[in-house]
Amino acid sequence: MVLEILDSKFEDNTHMQYLSRQHIIPEIVHSTSGKVVMRHIKGRRLCKILSDKKTDETVLKKIFSELGTMVAEVDKCHMRHGDLHTGNVIVEHSTNKPYIIDWEFATYSEFSQVDAMDLLSNAEYDLNSCARQELYKELETIYKKSYMDSIRAGASEEVLKLREIAGKKF
Ligand SMILES: Nc1ncnc2c1ncn2[C@@H]1O[C@H](COP(=O)(O)OP(=O)(O)O)[C@@H](O)[C@H]1O
Ligand SMILES: [Mg+2]
Repeated sequence: MVLEILDSKFEDNTHMQYLSRQHIIPEIVHSTSGKVVMRHIKGRRLCKILSDKKTDETVLKKIFSELGTMVAEVDKCHMRHGDLHTGNVIVEHSTNKPYIIDWEFATYSEFSQVDAMDLLSNAEYDLNSCARQELYKELETIYKKSYMDSIRAGASEEVLKLREIAGKKF
């Protein structure tokens, strides 16, 4: 179990509970005002996976496709992670499923794409450091496509309610 302390604006935890149900963050097992306890994921940080040349390209493509959708979901809820780099993504060993962790700098924010670009520039740095620029280009295309597909698909009723909550707290 891992304790995550949130910004004081997140005292009701409604957004975090939604992200947990969507499997964007590790499952929340306990929560109190401004604090959540999440499942400990057995896996590795994305930065390590990217700099390990043994990681299968198909696995990386699946991870980046999923991440594009996940980051779009966060944006659509009018949230900003605020520190979205490849060290704050844990990929589960048994499933290759990515989870976004470390929400201490998260804020409510209107649709911004800032998180989306932060994660991408970090991944580019990791892959350039081990001479995998060509692979980066492919992953960028996959990630941007799934991000834009999710944005274009629009927001559910539940997400619209989260935006209302966020709007009151800007
Ligand atoms: N839910 C989790 N499952 C597995 N490991 C985690 C989890 N949360 C944090 N960690 C591990 O702890 C490290 C530090 O946690 P993090 O929330 O990123 O704090 P910070 O970067 O502020 O020190 C992470 O890089 C990761 O290795
Ligand atoms: Mg961190």
